Amino acid sequence: MRKGVFALAAAGLLATGSIAACGDSGGSDSGSTKGSSSTGKVGVILPDTKSSARWATADLTYLKAAFAAAGVQADIQNAQGDKTQFQTIADGMISSGVKVLMIVNLDSGTGKAVLDKARGAGIATIDYDRLTLNGGANYYVSFDNVKVGELQGKGLVDCLAAKKYDKPVVAELNGSPTDNNATLFKQGYDSVLKPKYDSGEFQKGPDQSVPEWDNAQAGTIFEQMLTQNKNIKGVLAANDGLGNAAISVLKRNRLNGQVPVTGQDATVQGLQNILAGDQCMTVYKAIKKEADAASELAIALAKNQKPSTATGVTRDPESGKDVPSVLLEPQSITKDNIKDVIADKFVTKEQLCTGDYAKACTAAGIS
Ligand code: BGC
Repeated sequence: MRKGVFALAAAGLLATGSIAACGDSGGSDSGSTKGSSSTGKVGVILPDTKSSARWATADLTYLKAAFAAAGVQADIQNAQGDKTQFQTIADGMISSGVKVLMIVNLDSGTGKAVLDKARGAGIATIDYDRLTLNGGANYYVSFDNVKVGELQGKGLVDCLAAKKYDKPVVAELNGSPTDNNATLFKQGYDSVLKPKYDSGEFQKGPDQSVPEWDNAQAGTIFEQMLTQNKNIKGVLAANDGLGNAAISVLKRNRLNGQVPVTGQDATVQGLQNILAGDQCMTVYKAIKKEADAASELAIALAKNQKPSTATGVTRDPESGKDVPSVLLEPQSITKDNIKDVIADKFVTKEQLCTGDYAKACTAAGIS
């Protein structure tokens, strides 16, 4: 079955090659250099700019750089959280003759519609960061997302142990219910937290998903949680944006620093919250590696080469099919190893150690 898809995709690649070579110079946010006549164009659709700082900063920057370095023309656009716009961008890329389409879906339904259309036009497809359920992309590049959740769960356990609370109530602020990653993160942290609830060491508090990872809604949701349960002592927040929303509410209640909050993405804001003692940990995902792995696949496909880097597989739980994958390792970050994120050049000291944070940076060994 999968062989069939590949054969079709490969045939399509050859067929669209000449069209792509004559194509225009790409869309609005093109990080492009014209490729050789046999190299096709790559289209990339990023999801939004609000659910996490990463998309407009890290992913865009690293992807642009990778395609430019390879001399492959790339049209990189952002759907701004709008599913209709996502489809419009995809239609534009498909009709402009891209040879490879890489997407971060806004949900699996619209993602699948786009992947189906691309496949119908003989375009190779890559799911970037989020697996499109039943989408049948040719490749998937991401992190071990269950591991991300495990690191968050373990981080919260450690921070709560340091506070020496007796039977702390833990609230969970999950990511978007339409993002398969949010499901995997939860699977990971619940595998750590559930045994603690079951043994009575922790008390299970409110547990809610945040639609579309919307940070403002996360604040409203957490405010309600705290009003209904003043005794919340720990917050498993699925990313730094949701974590910051919870921290803002805790600040208004003068509880920041007393209630450990987790995060993900190692955003400047998340790291500063850690430096301030308001956030317990974040998960650093080396997005440069993710962007490099995905662009390497896309570049090979754009050049009609068969990529050799996707050595793993991910089972799509809906279709039951295995998607050839690259899955990278996430890293847990606390005050003790914040400097690793700077050493990796993901954020700079100048971005992080501004104003009031300068002292905390020195204390954290950031020089
Ligand atoms: C990504 C996270 C991100 C979240 C919200 C997830 O799919 O893996 O890195 O924080 O979406 O954009």
